[in-house]
Amino acid sequence: MTYKVGIFDSGVGGLTVAKSIYQAKLFDEIIYFGDTARVPYGSKNESTIIRYSLEALEFLKNFEINFLITACNSVSSCALPDLKRESNFEVVGVIDAGIKAVQKIAKVDDNILIIGTKTTIKSNLYQIGLKKLGYKNIIAIPTPLLVPIVEEEIFEEKIIFDIFEYYFKNLKKIDIDIVVLGCTHFPLIADEIYKFFYRKNEKKLNLIHSGDAILEYLIEKYPNLKPSKSEIEFFASENPQNLKNIALKWLQN
Ligand code: DGL
Repeated sequence: MTYKVGIFDSGVGGLTVAKSIYQAKLFDEIIYFGDTARVPYGSKNESTIIRYSLEALEFLKNFEINFLITACNSVSSCALPDLKRESNFEVVGVIDAGIKAVQKIAKVDDNILIIGTKTTIKSNLYQIGLKKLGYKNIIAIPTPLLVPIVEEEIFEEKIIFDIFEYYFKNLKKIDIDIVVLGCTHFPLIADEIYKFFYRKNEKKLNLIHSGDAILEYLIEKYPNLKPSKSEIEFFASENPQNLKNIALKWLQN
């Protein structure tokens, strides 16, 4: 069977997830769609995100996909039931995969920090999933300002660290062991996040990346995914050339 996967994100951020999947050659064809005209999703109402997600699904169905991955954490946190209802193929989000990735490395008393958009954090899905597995020390903080920082490619440490100081001022006395990067954009500032928390925890610090997490999850859950080629096409609801340029840059690094 040939697998044709649709990867959907609110914008360019999901390219971090597409990169992991593309490089692993898990699917014969990848159709990436970024809703760049309407990004960000993470500060919008659930009902709006669901409506946008269903429209993206309709667009992707034109390519006769037989698998859908919602790379966007915000979409994964609220639109999965609706997307599954409207699809006759597998629809997979990134949150369960992220929780499983934490479970593989974390001890029950580790301090786990989850960062993401307002929608993702408000959905409580990461927090509930981890609590069910016995994790006690869970801190969840919405950090929406980090999304435009990445979109604008402002990778200046001073600016990023100022934002961290603002969001994480109450964590000064806590040694964070795991940071769940609960937003597609955050792997692009993973080095800064690592550096910021490493100073406080010199023993160990692990970051959970949605792209790596979903890859492990897919390999375990769908052992039939063994294609021989991996082709990728990019689409966007606005300025597709810009998304293609970013994809060329990010996918090569
Ligand atoms: N892609 C979104 C996510 O992973 C972040 C950007 C947005 O707010 O749309 O939650």
